[in-house]
Amino acid sequence: MKILAFESSCDDTCASVVEERNGKQNILSNIVSSQTDIHAEYGGVVPEIASRAHSAVISAITYKALSDAKTAISDIDVIGVTNRPGLIGSLLVGVNFAKSLAVSNGIPIVPVHHIKGHVAANYFSETPPKPPFIALVASGGHTSLLKVDSYTDFATIGSTRDDAIGECFDKIARVMGIPYPGGAEVDRLASFGDKYAFDFPSAAIRDDSLDFSFSGLKTHAINLIHKIEQNGQDLPVNDISASLTDSIVRSVEKKLETAFDRFRYGSLVFAGGVSANSHLRKSIADFCTAREISFFVPDKRLCGDNAAMIGAQAFYEYLNGTRGCNDMNAIPSEEL
Ligand code: KG4
Ligand code: ZN
Repeated sequence: MKILAFESSCDDTCASVVEERNGKQNILSNIVSSQTDIHAEYGGVVPEIASRAHSAVISAITYKALSDAKTAISDIDVIGVTNRPGLIGSLLVGVNFAKSLAVSNGIPIVPVHHIKGHVAANYFSETPPKPPFIALVASGGHTSLLKVDSYTDFATIGSTRDDAIGECFDKIARVMGIPYPGGAEVDRLASFGDKYAFDFPSAAIRDDSLDFSFSGLKTHAINLIHKIEQNGQDLPVNDISASLTDSIVRSVEKKLETAFDRFRYGSLVFAGGVSANSHLRKSIADFCTAREISFFVPDKRLCGDNAAMIGAQAFYEYLNGTRGCNDMNAIPSEEL
């Protein structure tokens, strides 16, 4: 089965052709047109500009996805598209483009939840995870702990009460003078710093919930940076990056510990843009080894937004009978 998939929930316009053969998912093409340079000037994503930029490129990247996959539209069995959650104007571009293509070619269309898509990025691995498992999705817009009982049955067991984890990395990076999105650069700088240099507050909410709060940590870091600058000192960007990362690592581990004590699942799947973070990847892998939990994380190139992951999830949604109706719409809210 060949699936043409689209992702346009934020600031990447993505199209991909994914093929399922003998129970294994393969990527035939995966085109990502990033708007990072457009939004960097503003220090974050400007929704109106994002929608227009999606409109400008979506036809061209679809042609490229099909031609790179050496596939004609007539060979496509299913169209998958992210329809929630995200920036409404951005989502609408992908949803309407995909619907038009589906209607004009008589192809069934399947709506896909963006967070489920991130988890599905793991299905391209050599030995992919099989539900049930606990998933941690950490990105610029989301921080969710999920109980995944089948390929399509997801329940949120914890989430952030304010900022997302990637948003926290990006905002602190910006105050340190690192261009948007600064998460990957903070990851790099942290490797050269002393994680004990600064004591940052925990982002793990101090109750028995599985929730996080990154706003206190963010404000603490920003105040610290301003104080150092006001004192006329050089900003120790490596040490701040290392201490910040260590605080986030410890917060995540604390809630993972509670989650696995509570649910006793045997596997953890990590996903989302922040799952590219080398320190989180290593420490969560160590955490899992120590507790004899199987650990899965996508190849780094599939951590950020892409349409292949949407195609992978669309396959399971299709098998489960999910179909987009004529009135299928874009939905900004996160509800699974
Ligand atoms: O999944 P994604 O591409 O988009 C959303 O769904 O939000 O995630 C983007 C986020 C950004 O905040 C970016 O800074 C962060 O992922 N990110 C990282 C790393 N690479 C990307 N954060 C920490 N370390 C990284 N290596
Ligand atoms: Zn994402």
